[in-house]
Amino acid sequence: MKISTLSPIGIFDSGIGGLIIAKEMKIQMPNEDFIYFGDTKNMPYGEKSKEFIRKYSMKIASFLYEKKCKALVIACNSITSNALDQIQKKFHKKILIFNVIDPVVKNTIFLSYKKIGIIATPATVHSNLYTKKIKKYYSHLDIVQMSTPLLAPIIENGWGTNKINPIIKNYLNHLKSIDAILLACTHYLFLKQEIENFYHGKVHLIDIQKIVVQEIKKKLSEQKLLCLHPTWNRFPIFYTSTSIPIFFEKKVRILFGKKVFFKTHIFNFF
Ligand code: DGL
Repeated sequence: MKISTLSPIGIFDSGIGGLIIAKEMKIQMPNEDFIYFGDTKNMPYGEKSKEFIRKYSMKIASFLYEKKCKALVIACNSITSNALDQIQKKFHKKILIFNVIDPVVKNTIFLSYKKIGIIATPATVHSNLYTKKIKKYYSHLDIVQMSTPLLAPIIENGWGTNKINPIIKNYLNHLKSIDAILLACTHYLFLKQEIENFYHGKVHLIDIQKIVVQEIKKKLSEQKLLCLHPTWNRFPIFYTSTSIPIFFEKKVRILFGKKVFFKTHIFNFF
């Protein structure tokens, strides 16, 4: 399969979480063309078994690979922590694979903290991958992980802040006296402001999307796959596995404007 700097980047998540990573990609790498996949039919992944996550994420990765992408971005912590090894095994010699955990866990920002909190989906917390990886680089750190299962579904369903704030408060009341917090689910990146407000600026929010996209840009550039010139007439495509949910469309329009395409793709498992 012939790929070039002009080939698109495939990016996927269970739903809207990865849109924040896609937006950051547009900011840091404005010439890149991308195809997004949100598995809205099977969201939330955070409550699914490892087997389920592996099976479905592999389908999506293969779908994007078939679209002749030059790189795949797994913009989901639940998929990364449960299926990265399998996706890498199948595609690593064929295209570049990026994820939202590896660039973060080795970031030197951790040198400035003593104790951090991690909030994530049950599937991510259960894998224990964050703690294992961070401890490998920063053994001095005290890490408290907390599973926050209600958050991703209510974000995906577009609940307003008046309803979300009490839920955040309930969770984060158990996560005080920390220096920094890691939002280890891409959906939670939509709640940055609310979480910052809860801590009154006293707890640092680690800037995941910036760190992740800086790494993607660096690697694409090293591999001479970064698109340096503006391309025209190519609008990002957003696939969902149900007909496009209203809130998904709304978020896409807010983040990317009107010049986008929506498509539905339903996987056939038989
Ligand atoms: N956005 C996903 C993550 O980063 C998962 C949300 C979900 O489907 O549970 O973990």
